[in-house]
Amino acid sequence: MKKIRQPAEPYRIKSVEPISLLSRPERLKRIREANYNVFKLDAADIYIDLLTDSGTGAMSTSQWAALMLGDETYAGARSFRKFEATVREIFRKKHVVPCHQGRVAENLVFSTILKPGQFVPNNTHFDTTRGNCLHKGGVPVDLPCKEASSIEPLPFKGNMDTERLEAFIKEQGVEAIPMVIMTITNNSSGGQPVSMANILEVSEICHRHNIPFFFDCARFAENAYFIKRDEPGYANKPIREIVAEMFDACDGAMMSAKKDGLANIGGFVALNNDMLYEQLTELLILIEGFPTYGGLAGRDLEVLSVGLREVMDFDYLDYRIEQVRYFGEMIKQAGMPIVEPTGGHALFVDAGRFLPHLPPEQFPAQGLTVAFYTEGCIRAVEIGSLMFGEEDPKTGTFTPARQELVRMALPRRVYTNSHIDYIAEVAQRIADSKESIPGYQIVRQPKYLRHFTCDLAAVNTEEVLS
Ligand code: F0G
Repeated sequence: MKKIRQPAEPYRIKSVEPISLLSRPERLKRIREANYNVFKLDAADIYIDLLTDSGTGAMSTSQWAALMLGDETYAGARSFRKFEATVREIFRKKHVVPCHQGRVAENLVFSTILKPGQFVPNNTHFDTTRGNCLHKGGVPVDLPCKEASSIEPLPFKGNMDTERLEAFIKEQGVEAIPMVIMTITNNSSGGQPVSMANILEVSEICHRHNIPFFFDCARFAENAYFIKRDEPGYANKPIREIVAEMFDACDGAMMSAKKDGLANIGGFVALNNDMLYEQLTELLILIEGFPTYGGLAGRDLEVLSVGLREVMDFDYLDYRIEQVRYFGEMIKQAGMPIVEPTGGHALFVDAGRFLPHLPPEQFPAQGLTVAFYTEGCIRAVEIGSLMFGEEDPKTGTFTPARQELVRMALPRRVYTNSHIDYIAEVAQRIADSKESIPGYQIVRQPKYLRHFTCDLAAVNTEEVLS
């Protein structure tokens, strides 16, 4: 294998959590018992878990120390005041509404702002954003830029298509659009970043039409790093200044702080509008808790206040994004096509191109996901026709997903480059005998979000890779 530059970790390890590699017969037994659905595996079954980067990161010594400062007062806790000041300073908004994770922020905002039948444009809605919008009777509309579907490694493929946004506003009318959301980075589109130019353009369009402009900013610092690295004029700007410029362009933000909050739990809404703030807090008290804790413990708020600052450290971000790039290079060398360029938090392997012998209705990306487990005790997640494909109940016609991908998300500060090398070795072994990977069929499924709980079986074969 060609040697690729490996970024060295900008931290040393002070506390370790043992993980173990089950034997191959044990892995086969466990995946069979889980009916080939990796969501049904236990943590103890897994050596390297790449299911998500959400809430799975490692805290720093400063964060562990901050835990002890937690003030658990119900109303007016010191820990909240610190959190509120931190969020105000970084995200530059007047009001801060804490909540326990991102989807609650979405629920609060949509419950307050959205009337049934109204449209919510987004560069690409994340699943829970889409789900919450639909649940409140709204219509989620994805307006990704044209480059998003290109296989060329272009920068800022997470952008919104501003021409389509203008056209959409003209077509539906301002009254039908209570807000526009920009997801940074664009998780459902390969974790690709959004450029400052695009943020400013969308902001200008929204403000010209008097439409509130919000960020879904789970990975705001990773997005700012890409702007610094790839957008002309930003190379010499500190990350903090880039973040400030980004957030000055929006009216509010919803954040799942389980990502770039470097915490295991947490979220918030930050906004300027006084009336909206009043409405949000009324609902908050009903569904989450008093406005000075919002479903979190005081110690969680302390951890977040430290994490939201730490995440903007350039050395940390440089290592993080370089690690994902290194991971991508290693997997490509092993012979697997990936979505390029690599994004901020995950690698997306193109199983459709890797396993041409499997048609979409046999879920090639699930085949590859199962292979990563049986071959290496690694958990990834299918993002393809198992998650997004649809069968017409009347005609039985199958509509596949746009792409058959396997997402391998990297938890923050958790796995070293040796783990990445191990995953690449496993990928190589899989690639060497990829023709033997079977397709899968669903044998039992629930009505909604089937990928989480459905049971699967291999097609035309008694056993998987045995
Ligand atoms: N918005 C984005 C862009 C997300 O990626 C997520 C979660 C949420 C909102 C919801 O936040 O989980 O705190 O309620 N993404 C995770 C993932 C689950 O694996 O990509 P939450």
